[in-house]
Amino acid sequence: MAKLGVNVDHIATIRQARGIEEPDPVAAALLAELAGAHGITVHLREDRRHIQDRDVELLRQTIKTRLNLEMALTEEMIAFALKVLPDAVTLVPEGRHELTTEGGLDVCLLRSTLKERIALLKQAGIVVSLFVEPDLEQIKASHRVGADYIEIHTGTYCEMRNPGDQREQLQRIELAISAARKLNLGVNAGHGLNYRNIGPVAALKGIEEFNIGHSIVARAALVGMERAVREMLALI
Ligand code: PXP
Repeated sequence: MAKLGVNVDHIATIRQARGIEEPDPVAAALLAELAGAHGITVHLREDRRHIQDRDVELLRQTIKTRLNLEMALTEEMIAFALKVLPDAVTLVPEGRHELTTEGGLDVCLLRSTLKERIALLKQAGIVVSLFVEPDLEQIKASHRVGADYIEIHTGTYCEMRNPGDQREQLQRIELAISAARKLNLGVNAGHGLNYRNIGPVAALKGIEEFNIGHSIVARAALVGMERAVREMLALI
């Protein structure tokens, strides 16, 4: 069975909307672990729109599973990762105006910077994963720059509405998994996965871990609503 890494970024999004202390993504991470999550993922963005430095530092000290830090390939982020020492770093492209990560990393274009910075992270004992489209050139380049893992961007598959297009995207993902495995790269997958579209991807062989955030946080808000209202009514 593939593992599940729960991304708690959007618990922090709700907190930041009020600029106060709750809900705390660290508390959410501990509950996710109690429910059986195999790892916790957070994306520390350059603009700190949701996860803050303090969250990553506290997660490092508290969670019992694995901490996967998603981040851009900047000097600031590399220095932060070397200080906090997450179990894994997933390098992602980052655009200031995007709502969420759009597209995979262009590993071919960033070859030399990636090679140098991946070596620094690996020397510190951090497992390095690259978030890429299911594209053979990007996968070969990921191997050449020394990545341990790729994380396949499942966003295009998730956007497809008709079964034929979905099948085509699943085949792309399947080919990407087999190319990566032949190069001895570990394979994770994520982005846009939800309770309706996970089935066919979960049935593919060779994916070690899914990183899922928005749909889990969205469902948690709704399945928890009834209890939250009842508890407030009891207090009133
Ligand atoms: N994997 C990566 C590399 C991401 O950037 C994200 C979004 O932060 C996710 C997984 C989770 O995506 P979603 O929130 O759509 O489940």
